[in-house]
Amino acid sequence: MSAPRVAVVGATGAVGQIMLQTLARRGFEASEIVPFASERSAGKVLEGYGVIQPLADDTVQGYDLALFSAGGSTSRAWAEKFVAGGAVVVDNSSAWRMDPDVPLVVSEVNPEAIDGAKKGIVANPNCTTMVVMLPAKALHDTFGMTAMVATSYQAAGGAGQKGIDELAAQMPVLHERVELLVNDGEQARTLVTSEIHADTLAYNVVPMLGTLGENGYTDEEMKLQNESRKILGLPELAVSPTCVRVPVMVGHAIEVRATYEREVDVAEAKAVLEAFPNLVVEDAPTPLAAAGRDETFVGRVRADLGDPRSLNFFVVGDNLLKGAALNTVQLAELAVERGLAGARA
Ligand SMILES: NC(=O)c1ccc[n+]([C@@H]2O[C@H](COP(=O)([O-])OP(=O)(O)OC[C@H]3O[C@@H](n4cnc5c(N)ncnc54)[C@H](OP(=O)(O)O)[C@@H]3O)[C@@H](O)[C@H]2O)c1
Repeated sequence: MSAPRVAVVGATGAVGQIMLQTLARRGFEASEIVPFASERSAGKVLEGYGVIQPLADDTVQGYDLALFSAGGSTSRAWAEKFVAGGAVVVDNSSAWRMDPDVPLVVSEVNPEAIDGAKKGIVANPNCTTMVVMLPAKALHDTFGMTAMVATSYQAAGGAGQKGIDELAAQMPVLHERVELLVNDGEQARTLVTSEIHADTLAYNVVPMLGTLGENGYTDEEMKLQNESRKILGLPELAVSPTCVRVPVMVGHAIEVRATYEREVDVAEAKAVLEAFPNLVVEDAPTPLAAAGRDETFVGRVRADLGDPRSLNFFVVGDNLLKGAALNTVQLAELAVERGLAGARA
């Protein structure tokens, strides 16, 4: 097939911008890359890519690939229309992830699942689940995972550009009021507004991320359970998720206590982690050092103090890169390699 014609939906967003950079950086061969965004941006020029298109019945025709990062409602409304117009859709939102006819794919973990894209849609996992999946898969293949307690430290950028902007606006205000931060945090909290994050994020930690469900878990936490099970093909996997927002711009970190069918040897665990593609073993990886990096980093690999079948580790990845844009581009490359993209044209 000739080089694919690619639509990038949500091209002006935090993920969309990095998706465009990632396509360019990896030398993705496209006959054309066309940016789409909301009515607010349509008609403006996106430098290097031309006029931003609105989503309309006549603008979504004739693409080989459509890479979506414009939220769930946009994906639900428009993904199938791009498919009907000839495209394979790679979607970053949660709209299609749990659909049995839509594969949920991490390129290093379950690439073969992409062939099951019966609807012409492939889903990109949630950014927190994504980074956990690399070490989880490496260790599962060797030791057989049965359970996972996962506690996240998620960056402001997980809530998009607005999440970054809100934290950036709060930091200088509270930076000037160190005495209040020390002596009267409740008053300090009222000096800034929080619309995107559930509470003041600057100089704070917010253990409420997403919409709270009746079972006491947020939708973000339920994604960690449901998506992990689907990606790893372990429908019975016991997952205990807690998602926490921390004042970091980009880079999600997750502490995982994973339990296995057999006893875990730490040296063997480190060896399988080191051998896994795009996974780097370090002593103590941090989100700041991971921001802007393609790799996922794992460290603090320790035997559990109470259970010889459990292992503790700390995993870190850039939520906008591997957590979103990079995996999307890797799935686009996979769709081309495996003959999916363009097959419908
Ligand atoms: N941030 C992350 O770490 C992350 C990770 C994984 C997945 N995701 C997912 O990726 C998606 C985008 O996230 P983001 O962080 O990039 O958000 P963002 O910075 O808020 O960007 C949203 C993008 O979607 C566009 N958009 C919004 N409403 C639209 C509509 N009705 N029609 C067409 N385009 C519309 C926006 O266009 P305008 O500029 O015109 O408003 C913008 O380009 C979400 O589904 C999110 O869950 C995000």
